[in-house]
Amino acid sequence: MNVFINKIIPEKGLKLLEEAGITYTMWKEKTILDREQAIYFCKGHDAFISAGQSGLDADFFAQCKHLKVVALHSVGFDGVDVAAATKNGVPIGNTPNVLNRATAETALLLMLTVARKALFLHKKIQKGQWGVAQPTEDLGFDMEGKTLGVVGLGRIGAELARICKQSWNMDILYFNRGRNKEAEQEFGAKKVSFEELLSSSDVVSVHTALTAETKGMFNADAFERMKPTGIFINTSRGGVHDEQALISALEKGVIWGAGLDVTNPEPMKAGNPLLEMENAVVFPHIGSSTVETRGEMSRCVAENIIAGLKGERLPYPVNPEVYDS
Ligand code: DGY
Repeated sequence: MNVFINKIIPEKGLKLLEEAGITYTMWKEKTILDREQAIYFCKGHDAFISAGQSGLDADFFAQCKHLKVVALHSVGFDGVDVAAATKNGVPIGNTPNVLNRATAETALLLMLTVARKALFLHKKIQKGQWGVAQPTEDLGFDMEGKTLGVVGLGRIGAELARICKQSWNMDILYFNRGRNKEAEQEFGAKKVSFEELLSSSDVVSVHTALTAETKGMFNADAFERMKPTGIFINTSRGGVHDEQALISALEKGVIWGAGLDVTNPEPMKAGNPLLEMENAVVFPHIGSSTVETRGEMSRCVAENIIAGLKGERLPYPVNPEVYDS
């Protein structure tokens, strides 16, 4: 049994594969495989480990229906045509839970960096502009007692809310389709409408999956509804916000600042105006990028592969319905 891996994944997962007697081919070049190349390699293997491979569409699964399992090195699966995988009998696995804390901490890092203008002030020093600072100059905002609005209060959003409650006694509002009763009990989270969340929150943090419903939900109208002192944070998917609307909201002072770990497209181009703005901070999608978290993700991936190749149910299935047929 052999696996194709489209990027270099941590030792922890590779070791588990080796111990299970599974051989692998790992693409180590710093080039991104296109869909045709991915199909070519997958055709010569029994399983596929995909770290952000694009083009996993209906045609991919029609051509690669021999795959016994596709293990995603991510929790997100918005780039995968899951229905097509199911139709072709291919189980898809992901890496839930293990990246909750690291991703929540990334949102926190963005919140504080934006709230205290930290990156902008760092750049000022680089430019030799650390002069006489007036006591009224370049001031940021405290978090203590402020309101956090979480769009998508799932596992990652709840982790962020918990930290914000414990650290700064922040009030927690959330907008979800369903209720999160645990969060309501644990830290007094309050479910509100999207409009109320926008108008009442000092920090709005997005943790929702990218779906047809959430695509572009942060548009000009949404930013207009936020407080002029409001901070927008997105660590979920870049497609949830409209980048031009965000740039315009920041330029016109409609909102106070923004911190992004995700952009649309990724990678963001060097000349993007957000990179030059005083009140914007952009990270290159580092939500899960700690040694510990990436190691754990590779463990989940290996466990999915091992189970899939044995013909067993994946421990972390994205499409459990594949077992119904
Ligand atoms: C995920 O796992 O989906 C995160 O966005 C990291 O890629």
